[in-house]
Amino acid sequence: MAESIAYTKSAGREQIYQELAPQIGALIGAEPDLIANLANVAAVLKEAFGFFWVGFYLKKGEQLVLGPFQGPLACTRLSFDQGVCGHAYSTAQTVIVPDVDAFPGHIACSSAARSEIVVPIFDANGEVFAVLDVDSNQLDDFSETDAKGLKAIADIVERSHSRV
Ligand code: SME
Repeated sequence: MAESIAYTKSAGREQIYQELAPQIGALIGAEPDLIANLANVAAVLKEAFGFFWVGFYLKKGEQLVLGPFQGPLACTRLSFDQGVCGHAYSTAQTVIVPDVDAFPGHIACSSAARSEIVVPIFDANGEVFAVLDVDSNQLDDFSETDAKGLKAIADIVERSHSRV
C-alpha cells in the first residue's frame, strides 16, 4: 500500500482531483474494510485540499451516523429530513450550498462553516448507504469541479464497497 500521496500542490482543484483518483483507487482497492477506507479517503482529501471539515455519515437504521472524518468535532446523528446531508441522502443527489445560513434546516455543527457540498454514495443495490460531506469556512467555496471530483471519489468507494 502506498504510504503517501503525490499531487501538484500548485495545481487547481480539477487537476488535483484527477491526480488523486487513481491513487485513492490503489489505496482502498486492496482493503475490504469500509471504515478503514473511508478514514484514509477523509485523510487524503484533508491533506490535499485543506478542507475545514471532510468526512462521512453512514446510514444506520433511520439516521445518518457520523463516520470517519477530519476536522473539528461534529454532530453525531442526523435525521434524513434535516440539513444538507439529509437532503443529499433523501434526494440521492449531490447538493452544493454556497451559503449555509441561507439553506433551510442546515445543521450547524460548527459556527465557522460557511458553505458545504454533500455527495451521496450508493451500495450495490443502488441505495444510498453513506454521504461524503465537505464543509468550508469560506462562502461559495464549492463548484461543479468539486461535485465532479468528489463524485469520482465516491464512485471509487462504491466500486470498492459493492465488491465485498
Ligand atoms: N452541516 C451538515 C451537518 C454535518 S456537519 O456539517 C459536519 C448538514 O446540514 O447536514
